[in-house]
Amino acid sequence: MSKYALVTGATSGIGRAYAERLAAEGYDLVVVGRRRERLEEFAAAHPDVTVRVLAADLSTAEGIDAVAAVCATEPLTMLVNNAGVAHYMPLADLPAAKATELVDVKVLAPTLLTRAVVAGMIERGEGTIVNVAGMIAFSGPAPHAQMPRRAVYGGSLAYSVAMSQTLAAELEGTGVTVQVVCPGVVATEFHTVQGLDLSAVPRMSAEDVVTASLRGLELGEVVCAPGVEDAGLLDAVFRADLEVFGAQSPELASRYR
Ligand SMILES: NC(=O)c1ccc[n+]([C@@H]2O[C@H](COP(=O)([O-])OP(=O)(O)OC[C@H]3O[C@@H](n4cnc5c(N)ncnc54)[C@H](OP(=O)(O)O)[C@@H]3O)[C@@H](O)[C@H]2O)c1
Repeated sequence: MSKYALVTGATSGIGRAYAERLAAEGYDLVVVGRRRERLEEFAAAHPDVTVRVLAADLSTAEGIDAVAAVCATEPLTMLVNNAGVAHYMPLADLPAAKATELVDVKVLAPTLLTRAVVAGMIERGEGTIVNVAGMIAFSGPAPHAQMPRRAVYGGSLAYSVAMSQTLAAELEGTGVTVQVVCPGVVATEFHTVQGLDLSAVPRMSAEDVVTASLRGLELGEVVCAPGVEDAGLLDAVFRADLEVFGAQSPELASRYR
């Protein structure tokens, strides 16, 4: 089967790096983002593969529907759910429209695009779904001084991790693979579009994130953490998750009596 990927958020940063790498590996592509001119520039720069430009706003129902329709009808071998916004600010200050946009782009769109693509992948017995989350997914227990002002963003990444793990298990034996990628701080436009200057913070390149993701797929990793040297730490987190999950009982825990 020919290699054929759809990448959301392909106009910059990590998504652009996925699109570049996959094109270099001979994938035909559907590139998605709001900035059509950047998508067209990408297509023009990659004449050796077929690149379809799909300008869509994934914070709208119409945008999600348009991309989902492509996911449901094209024989994609890979879906990269990468588009994202962060809107770091205290929840009380976060305008409802920005909270909605964040959840639409980071939670609803990946859910509906994955749902749209997965039936065809199962039928073809082949496919890869990559969800780009981030290490902030694991920052829930961090104190205020370390990780303030990003409850909705953090929650959206944790959703992505839990959904990817659960779906990976559901798809065992089908030939369809699911991976969630959890980078730390990456040098992209992500922070500058929010007016933040993180140039003084050590940052990974978007290219390294993609290298980790593709190698992680070869290693069979469901959770890929490009900047975590000790993969045993992740295993320990998931073992602890399973221990707590298995420790539940219908009896009221004694500390609540
Ligand atoms: N940079 C980091 O430090 C970091 C760390 C961990 C995880 N991540 C995750 O990595 C992913 C990619 O971010 P990045 O760092 O590459 O940032 P970026 O350079 O700002 O790229 C974000 C991409 O998302 C697209 N996008 C945003 N809103 C959209 C919408 N409503 N509809 C369609 N596309 C939309 C943008 O395209 P248009 O503007 O053209 O629509 C752009 O291509 C995000 O999901 C983020 O959560 C980033």
